[in-house]
Amino acid sequence: MGSILDGHAALAYEVEQVAEVAGYLWQKGWAERNGGNITVNVTACIDDQIRQMPAIAPQIDMGVILPHLKGCYFFCKGTNKRMRDLARRPMENGSVIRITDDCAHYEIIADNPVKPTSELPSHLAMHNYLLGKGESCKAALHTHPIELVAMSHTDKFLQKDVLTNLLWSMIPETKAFCPRGLGVVPYQLPGSQRLAEATLKLLDDYDVTLWEKHGVCAVAENIMEAFDQVDVLNKSAQIYINACAMGFTPDGMTREQMQEMTVAFNLPK
Ligand code: 13P
Ligand code: ZN
Repeated sequence: MGSILDGHAALAYEVEQVAEVAGYLWQKGWAERNGGNITVNVTACIDDQIRQMPAIAPQIDMGVILPHLKGCYFFCKGTNKRMRDLARRPMENGSVIRITDDCAHYEIIADNPVKPTSELPSHLAMHNYLLGKGESCKAALHTHPIELVAMSHTDKFLQKDVLTNLLWSMIPETKAFCPRGLGVVPYQLPGSQRLAEATLKLLDDYDVTLWEKHGVCAVAENIMEAFDQVDVLNKSAQIYINACAMGFTPDGMTREQMQEMTVAFNLPK
């Protein structure tokens, strides 16, 4: 059977990048079973031939209207599919969907009728919001990084910006590559509209959101950058936890060292 990727090099490249990141997530130990999900807005790779492709499964009501997604196309990890399988066989473990013109439904167009991730409400809400703001973030990533999730199990790290400041202070690069830090979303049911709405509220102020006792969610220009942001933050979390395991609480960079970084790299205050 032919694939939508045949003869569509730009789309094939996007899917290849997703597969590469899916492999990293598995190697990192962040993707137990079907844990985590990825969606990428691939509309820029779509030509008339794809636009004319019929749906291969009945339309699904999104339960919300997302006006900025009219006619957009996304590659989505399938619900209940494993990242380690997505890495090797992306078109069997994910699918390309089209948002219908009423902005209230989506339909799967290729290659197989693989139902998109259960976290689609959060992913599409973020894509819709960022497109509405004119931002060029095309990729959304949700994953379960062990150390960041562990740190979300105590109230002291859930207070506003406590975790951001602590993680920034573990290694200079964290603030450089994640300059707006990590916003905390209080626990919500996975896959719920409430989780999507709570995540949206933090998008203006933070690079990455931490879903309490569950995982993180990052949006970026492309899937590699979304992965890098989580990787950088989780590295800091690992340094903190390793120091604690050695029996001491790490000092962290000093206020002066942080300030020097902020000025030298022209980072937001
Ligand atoms: P899916 O398999 O539906 O993508 O769900 C995984 C997950 O991490 C839910 O939060
Ligand atoms: Zn999850």
